[in-house]
Amino acid sequence: MELVIQPDAEHAARLVASLIAKALLEKPHLVLGLATGRTMERVYNHLVRMHREEGLDFSLCRTFNLDEYIGLRPDHPGSYRHYMDQHLFNHINIDHRNTYLPDGMAADLKAACRHYEEMIHEFGGIDLQLLGIGSDGHIGFNESLSALRSRTRDKALAPSTIAVNSTLFADPAEMPRRAITMGVGTILDAHAIILLVTGSSKADIVTKAVEGPITSMVSATALQLHPQCRVVVDEAAAVNLQAQDYYRWVFETEPEWAEFRR
Ligand code: F6R
Repeated sequence: MELVIQPDAEHAARLVASLIAKALLEKPHLVLGLATGRTMERVYNHLVRMHREEGLDFSLCRTFNLDEYIGLRPDHPGSYRHYMDQHLFNHINIDHRNTYLPDGMAADLKAACRHYEEMIHEFGGIDLQLLGIGSDGHIGFNESLSALRSRTRDKALAPSTIAVNSTLFADPAEMPRRAITMGVGTILDAHAIILLVTGSSKADIVTKAVEGPITSMVSATALQLHPQCRVVVDEAAAVNLQAQDYYRWVFETEPEWAEFRR
């Protein structure tokens, strides 16, 4: 794992967008794993800007989102399909047929989950997976006690997740109680991972995720097992990290980060 501390949420998002852009330039057929949520909005703003101003090309790229609510139609303003269209897909040159989210309206949810895993496999696996973290340490919607080898499945959301995410619904009562999510095992199969964490409200959980013991109580701790996981945080989220000096030293001195230092 490598951890990079950026001055604020804007710089952190810009760095993540630059890492994605670099991966896309190196491999135009990139299979990109995407996340939704407030943290990602800044990243998608930067990707849209890079597409408009620098011609960043998504035409050959495929995307797989981590999760989708069960029981919301794709055009529902609270659905993750709607979020992705609004924040990214409608503003870049991606072929919408190459953008995949789990089918939360499927009559047979188990079959839909199996199909999602098969499609990821068919396209050679996810090259780069983007992640945020929930205040309970979830990645995707892998709430506490999700098996560290779990695959895509339907999952009950934690009351804390429902409380936080329902504020994004015009009528909070419309917030679904269940979602389809890639499993922790599915996420760990990605060739590379970027976890973005910003804001003081995430300071405790990111410290547990990165420096704490691996436990299914905090799904994000499983990322410690991944050989190519980069964690990008802002100063506000970094305050409790024990090895801050080391992380800053690596970012300032290692050649791989030279092009990203400003
Ligand atoms: C979203 C997802 C979640 C979010 C997490 C953080 O697709 O999988 O794990 O990344 O809940 O959400 P925000 O950024 O809204 O705090």
